[in-house]
Amino acid sequence: MVKICCIGAGYVGGPTMAVIALKCPDVEVVVVDISEARIAGWNSDRLPIYEPGLDDVVKRCRGRNLFFSTDVERYVGEADVVFVSVNTPTKTRGLGAGKAADLTYWESAARMIADVSRSDKIVVEKSTVPVKTAEAIEKILAHNGRGVRYQILSNPEFLAEGTAVRDLFAPDRVLIGGRETPEGQAAVKVLKDVYARWVPEDRIITTNLWSAELSKLAANAFLAQRISSVNAISALCEATGADVTEVACSIGKDSRIGPRFLSASVGFGGSCFQKDILNLVYICECYGLPEVADYWRQVIGINDYQKSRFVNRVVSSMFNTVAGKKVAVLGFAFKKDTGDTRETPAIDVCRGLLGDKAVVSIYDPQVTEEQVRRDLAMNKFDWDHPRHLQPVGEPADQPVAVTSDAYEAAHDAHAVCILTEWEEFRNLDYRRMYDLMQKPAFVFDGRNIVDPEKLRDIGFIVYAIGKPLDQWLKDMPAVAS
Ligand code: UDX
Ligand code: UDX
Repeated sequence: MVKICCIGAGYVGGPTMAVIALKCPDVEVVVVDISEARIAGWNSDRLPIYEPGLDDVVKRCRGRNLFFSTDVERYVGEADVVFVSVNTPTKTRGLGAGKAADLTYWESAARMIADVSRSDKIVVEKSTVPVKTAEAIEKILAHNGRGVRYQILSNPEFLAEGTAVRDLFAPDRVLIGGRETPEGQAAVKVLKDVYARWVPEDRIITTNLWSAELSKLAANAFLAQRISSVNAISALCEATGADVTEVACSIGKDSRIGPRFLSASVGFGGSCFQKDILNLVYICECYGLPEVADYWRQVIGINDYQKSRFVNRVVSSMFNTVAGKKVAVLGFAFKKDTGDTRETPAIDVCRGLLGDKAVVSIYDPQVTEEQVRRDLAMNKFDWDHPRHLQPVGEPADQPVAVTSDAYEAAHDAHAVCILTEWEEFRNLDYRRMYDLMQKPAFVFDGRNIVDPEKLRDIGFIVYAIGKPLDQWLKDMPAVAS
């Protein structure tokens, strides 16, 4: 019987371990974390992360074979398999600043594992790490091993937030990378046997360590590239009168392209895409491949362009000034069905509006006021530290309100910006909204979830990403930033 311990009770570690515990009732799974608040949350009725279906999974196995604890050293010491799912922030200073991963938390986890281990262990990389991290971890463990033997595996996570439980139950694939030695292959088999309890064998792919590490970065880079591609086309659609939804639908019918991940938006967010591409860029530069680095960097370039293009549309269509004007922001999470705000495009859009002196009123069904204020005060890249170690700046004295419903946010506003595709925003009473707002009343739909024609019938001036422009917007072209 295998004992599993996972260091890091976050968005990745928590749901992954809960599903392993559910599917393998005879395996003891302990999730440990340095954050007492996080662990208290996992042991309470209100889990620290919002994920559809997760409550049920946790309820069914917590206290049976799933445990959450801050006693990191004890449970790591007792485990056969140690997953590591700790933060890997982007470096903000020194060599590789703004691109390379800061492996401080990973390195200290490895040193701690070496300190407390008295029996052989399999160490599994779960957080996204730069290619060749396994080599560094192996060296730390080998030099501090005191006779204990370690095998490092890379088992990257492909779950998407909002569908994490579904993705874990029925993954497209599980990837396990290991050393091509007999010991390495034996370790791969141990982990493969865990997943094989519920994942069909042909969906469990085994590779060498470096392929597994690189596959994670490459998968996220490809996904992000699709969004930047459709977003680039959205700008051209606005210029020509084409409709990006029609274009995406047409090209998605080609089975070689496929229909998914072609929704134009105000930009992608989330904890992985930008960070992983920056990692990829840095690795390419380190290996003397500047052309490859530039190619991938441009995926982020278009994402930044899309966010600033959106802000420019808002400002330019409102007579080139939003100073003192109330702007309602609907949605702050980086996508629907999550309360996660890491790298959400809403941060950059709100900063852009505030930079132009707008008064911003924000509503999101899952994001707290405290979180919004933290995000707006935080420096770029500082979010990826354990919460209690996050360097938080002075709370900025900004004209920002956080409301408990969409109508309150829209009250007296000149414009509504939809930044997250929450279902409830599709079904709002937009006539009521219109009546509450200043005139002319604008809607800027950053997710293409409302019907522009219906809103125009009510009286709104509507901008929707990549859709034919209202005459109003044609008359007031967005100025370059
Ligand atoms: C994590 C990383 O944040 C991400 O960069 C990586 O790509 C995948 O793994 P996630 O689970 O979403 O993803 O992060 P988060 O929710 O921040 O959880 C990380 C947890 O690790 C935190 O709860 C933190 O307290 C914990 N941690 C961090 C430790 O227990 N020990 C440490 O030394 C550092
Ligand atoms: C992503 C990967 O999908 C997952 O495999 C990996 O393990 C972690 O990173 P996640 O960040 O949770 O998952 O969300 P995802 O659904 O991929 O969306 C990322 C961003 O892209 C969101 O801001 C989303 O709104 C945006 N997006 C997605 C679009 O703008 N258009 C699309 O068509 C799809």
